Amino acid sequence: MASLASSFTLLLCLSSFAHAMNVTGQWPAGRSTRFYDFKVQTMKITKLCTTKDIVVINNIFPGPVVYAQEDDRVIVRVTNETPYNITIHWHGVRQRLSCWSDGPSYITQCPIQAGQTFTYEFTLVQQKGTLLWHAHNSWLRATVYGAIVIYPKTGVPYPFKYPYEEHILILGEYWLKDIQQLEKDTLASGGGPPPADAFTINGHPGPKYNCSNNGLHALSLSLSTNYFPFHMLDVYQIDVVPGKTYLLRLISAALNSEVFFTIANHKLTIVEADAEYTKPFTTDRVMLGPGQTLNILVTADQSIAKYSIAMGPYMSAQGVPFQTIPSVAYFNYLGAVPNQVASQASLPSFNDNLAVKTVMDGLRSLNASKVPKVIDKNLFFTIGLNVDKCHSSTPNKSCQGVNGGVMAASMNNISFIKPKISLLEAYYKSINGQYTPDFPDVPFKFYDFVNGAPNNIPNNTSSLNGTRVNVLEYGTRVQLILQDTGTLTTENHPIHLHGFSFYVVGYGSGNYNPQTADLNLVDPPYMNVFGVPVGGWAAIRFIADNPGVWFMHCHLDIHQSWGLGMSFIVKNGIGPLQTLPHPPADLPRC
Ligand code: C2O
Repeated sequence: MASLASSFTLLLCLSSFAHAMNVTGQWPAGRSTRFYDFKVQTMKITKLCTTKDIVVINNIFPGPVVYAQEDDRVIVRVTNETPYNITIHWHGVRQRLSCWSDGPSYITQCPIQAGQTFTYEFTLVQQKGTLLWHAHNSWLRATVYGAIVIYPKTGVPYPFKYPYEEHILILGEYWLKDIQQLEKDTLASGGGPPPADAFTINGHPGPKYNCSNNGLHALSLSLSTNYFPFHMLDVYQIDVVPGKTYLLRLISAALNSEVFFTIANHKLTIVEADAEYTKPFTTDRVMLGPGQTLNILVTADQSIAKYSIAMGPYMSAQGVPFQTIPSVAYFNYLGAVPNQVASQASLPSFNDNLAVKTVMDGLRSLNASKVPKVIDKNLFFTIGLNVDKCHSSTPNKSCQGVNGGVMAASMNNISFIKPKISLLEAYYKSINGQYTPDFPDVPFKFYDFVNGAPNNIPNNTSSLNGTRVNVLEYGTRVQLILQDTGTLTTENHPIHLHGFSFYVVGYGSGNYNPQTADLNLVDPPYMNVFGVPVGGWAAIRFIADNPGVWFMHCHLDIHQSWGLGMSFIVKNGIGPLQTLPHPPADLPRC
């Protein structure tokens, strides 16, 4: 089976030209320019014996790969041919002076409405590696996602042995129900979302689910599946040459789950995390939160056979239902006996927090010379779930949260409410009434976060609502402590910051204690999503040197919908290189 990468090559609308033209002093110009045309479309798809419409880009699922090189300018024209609102976010792209192209709806832009077009433009300043793009409006990213592959500049080698081949593996979650309906129903119920009907690897559920045969018509279904040729099964396969080393670009585009990944009998050597090189770290398995990417090297050094690649749940919360059946793909040696049963991969158990920690402990930047040593601003944000009181006259319908309440989530006990127009527009044009600049630097109250409740009445677990932003002066060196709370249940939350990568200088379990916290200022990983440990804390550092409005949120979409997010405003500095340019003329209106 052809690799995902090569099958997309033909679909690329890609050209490049010298950077001399159209350079204005206002934004980083880029070396070459890569053009892509994204048509947002609905497409019929059959998975798990059910046909339904999903939203995709350019009629393929997962969507087209965006290829570029470090420092390239990327221009993507997005035309919305569906009846739904959409935006696209370039997850992990630091959007230097191009906040208008970041993509989160109601943060940096209004959605692209039916029939409308918006052109995203940004430069991959000092960025290389694997990232992803995804829809950033409602839960559409369940199917609207794809890889971003940024190669080093011409002539610059990888800092590891050159792989024989590269493959992209995008991990996802798939629902049989229409995803926007699912989102509406879930939020209207006041309770939690149903688990995915399947995990997927490059869109394929694999052989473990009932009815994993894809696209078979009625006649074929009357035959025994044993006789079907392999390609009739909805499973992804990488064919490998014995002895060769492969670079796997692992991406999690899952919606509401964190996931483990492993390959039977093979070692995984992590060489990059969130598009930043790491010291090589060898492990049997890895965990990815939604939005995270890992480049791993795998050598086909086992006996000639077919081996399972598996992806399954990591669930650290109590009492949350989740999909237990793993998605399986194959790592198939050339020369293996056809139709041989694949050797099984063993995933960690769903609540193996130690497996998560062991891999995190191994992640060290290859070079981390820029870790801020001096801090101008110390921030402390709690993250967690809440239950708000039921105010509905039909509680059976709309208050299905814990104890008959309505589920919510918050940072510093404030549930983020999206504004009516984008925060960036409101800020840039000084439009009043959309937000307040008073997101607190620290919680309203310090208490035993992991074991206590935020409000005075011991069982009052409700949050405040608000659209509050935290304002940072240009160039502020920030340390932010993220503290998980046990208000409802402790849980590992994959926190994502837009516009920056941050150094993860420390993490631990329990309540953060500055006296005992052990920080790594030597070689911490440089990431854009970090899974704050269940019932624990993380310390991250970044320099606020990119003006704009930057969303920070839990990348589990259900938590984001419940309000687990906030935004930073980073003010302009001095001169054009520290000033956000004016908005593009085609910026969508609300
Ligand atoms: Cu990958 Cu705000 O998201």
